[in-house]
Amino acid sequence: MTTASTPPRGLAGIPTSPGVGAHCAPGEVITTAGLSKTFPGGIHAVVDLDLSVNAGEIFGLLGPNGAGKTTTVGMLSTRVVPTAGSACVGGVDVVAHAALAKQAIGVVAQSNTLDRSLTVWENLYYHCRYFGASARDARARADELLKQFRLSDRAKASVYALSGGMAQRLMVARSIAHRPHILFLDEPTAGLDPQSRLALWDILHELHGEGLTVLLTTHYRE
Ligand SMILES: Nc1ncnc2c1ncn2[C@@H]1O[C@H](COP(=O)(O)OP(=O)(O)OP(=O)(O)O)[C@@H](O)[C@H]1O
Ligand SMILES: [Mg+2]
Repeated sequence: MTTASTPPRGLAGIPTSPGVGAHCAPGEVITTAGLSKTFPGGIHAVVDLDLSVNAGEIFGLLGPNGAGKTTTVGMLSTRVVPTAGSACVGGVDVVAHAALAKQAIGVVAQSNTLDRSLTVWENLYYHCRYFGASARDARARADELLKQFRLSDRAKASVYALSGGMAQRLMVARSIAHRPHILFLDEPTAGLDPQSRLALWDILHELHGEGLTVLLTTHYRE
């Protein structure tokens, strides 16, 4: 039976906010304590970061090149292992329970990470399948996202045939395909023309309106 206190469920029907990890409370959306990353060679990319992001916030990390923004997103999205401190995302300790944390989050990386051997539609379809959706649900979700992100006419195209703005839209579409409730975007508007940048902000506001918590990095103060 579903009750009001049932945790939200992802596409695969897996609870996405279970409250796992020694320091993590179930309701915590993003919290870090003393989070640090020193790369081999002694580069201190992130030092002692204490961060708290509430549910439904759009939180911006603003900083110059090399400030540690991508490293921070990397640690919060389980790609980079911290050298000190802790981080909870969606109530889950990202180091102790990386696989579980991944179910709660969507990630748009700074560089293009689309699968170049797949079509536009297939990039969405297989992402849903990776997250446990049935073939039927994945097909429906891919179609729905292409419509939402105004890419339906490019469904069968190779990702090589997309403009930078279209590729960025597809990366955002893929990042939310498994219905995460936290979204990380690393420089989402870099390299976009003003029109594409505005279109992307519209999409982000729409997602935010649907209850998504967003953490993004940027150089742009506006
Ligand atoms: N894999 C790595 N190995 C060694 N040093 C790294 C690695 N990744 C990042 N760094 C270093 O960590 C520091 C922070 O890099 P990071 O990419 O997090 O910055 P950023 O704020 O995202 O910069 P940008 O605005 O250019 O994207 C830099 O000094 C960078 O050279
Ligand atoms: Mg970066």
